[in-house]
Amino acid sequence: MFFVILLNNSGFLERLKKTKLLLPPLSGFTDYAYRQILAEFSPPFICTEMISPHAIIHRNPKVLRSLEKIDGPHLSGVQLIGNEPKAMAEAAEIIESLGYDYVDINMGCTVKTVTNSGAGIALMKSEEIASEIAKNIVNSVNMPVTCKMRLGYNKANLNAVTLGKKLADIGITSITVHGRTGEKKLGLPIDYVKLREVIEKIPIPIIANGNIFNGFDAKNMIDATNAAAIMPGRGIIGNPWLVAEILSVFSNTPIHQPCLLEKKQVSLQHTLNLINFYNEKTAIIKMRKILPEYFKYCQNLISLKKDIQNVNNLIELQNLIDKIEKNGSKIKFKNINT
Ligand SMILES: Cc1cc2nc3c(=O)[nH]c(=O)nc-3n(C[C@H](O)[C@H](O)[C@H](O)COP(=O)(O)O)c2cc1C
Repeated sequence: MFFVILLNNSGFLERLKKTKLLLPPLSGFTDYAYRQILAEFSPPFICTEMISPHAIIHRNPKVLRSLEKIDGPHLSGVQLIGNEPKAMAEAAEIIESLGYDYVDINMGCTVKTVTNSGAGIALMKSEEIASEIAKNIVNSVNMPVTCKMRLGYNKANLNAVTLGKKLADIGITSITVHGRTGEKKLGLPIDYVKLREVIEKIPIPIIANGNIFNGFDAKNMIDATNAAAIMPGRGIIGNPWLVAEILSVFSNTPIHQPCLLEKKQVSLQHTLNLINFYNEKTAIIKMRKILPEYFKYCQNLISLKKDIQNVNNLIELQNLIDKIEKNGSKIKFKNINT
C-alpha cells in the first residue's frame, strides 16, 4: 500500500512540476457543465466546486450525476467542504471509488453559513480539527490528498505556515495558498511577500493563488513567490482559453487569442451543457452571470449585462449573442440603442 501511495503521489507531483497549473474549485461555476468545457481545453488538472461529504455519502442523485468522470487527459479532483473527520474520510473513499485522481480539503471558504458550521476557513482557526480531517482522509485513500487555505484565519493570525507544516507531516501532497487572509475581500491586493515566506517554510509543493487573470499574472506569481505552481480563480470564469495562455507564457510560446466566433461557439456550448445538466430555466439564469464574462472586453459591456437580465430562453440568448459584433479590433454589443 505504501508503494501505491508513492506511485500515485509521484504521478500528481510530476504533472504539477511539469505544468505548474491547477484549475480552481469555484462554487457555482466549475460545475459539471463548465468542467465539460474546460476538459476540451486540456488543462493538466480540473477540480469540482466544493461539495459536502454528506451529499456524497447519502448518494444525492444530482451530486452523484455531477461527479460522473469527464473524459480527457486531465487529472480530476473533488473538493470537500466539512468539519467531521469521519464523514470527510468516508466521502473521500467514495470519490476514489468513482475513479477520481485526488481529493482537496477546503480550508479557505469564508461564506458565513460555511464558517458557522466549523468548515472552510474555520478549520484554519482550529488546527486540531483540520489535522484530524487530513489524517483521516490520508489514512482512508491511496490517491493524493491536497488542501486549499489562505495566508491566515485573519491578519492577526497568519498561521498558514504552522498549519501547513502539520499537514505536510500528515502526508498531504500539496497545498494551495490564497494570498489573502480570511477577512480580505477578493478585490484587495495579494500579499506576495507573505506568500513567499509560506512557500519557503512548508516542505511540500505550494500552489499560489490570487489575482491571476492572464498568463503574465501567472508568471509574475511564480517569479514573486517561487511557488511550485499557480491556480487562477475568477480569471477562469468565461475564459477557458486562459489554460493555453498560461501554458504558453510558461513555455515561452506564442499566445492564441480566441476570435469572436470561438467565444460565441464556446459560450453557446456552455449554455447547452447547462441545459443538459439542469434545465433551460436554470441554465439561462446561470448564463446571466456567466455570458458577460465571455465577452468582458466588449465595449458596451454594461448594456450587455443589462439586456441579458431580460433573456428567458435559449432562442433569446442566441439572439443576444448574435448582436455581439466586431467593431474594428474591438467587439461591441449592438443593442437597440446602438
Ligand atoms: C464565485 C466564487 C466561488 C468560489 N468557490 C470556491 C470553492 O468552491 N472552493 C474554494 O476553495 N475556493 C473557492 N473560491 C475561491 C477561489 O478558488 C480563489 O481562491 C479566489 O477567487 C482567489 O483567486 P482570484 O483572486 O484569482 O479570484 C471561489 C471564489 C469565487 C469568486
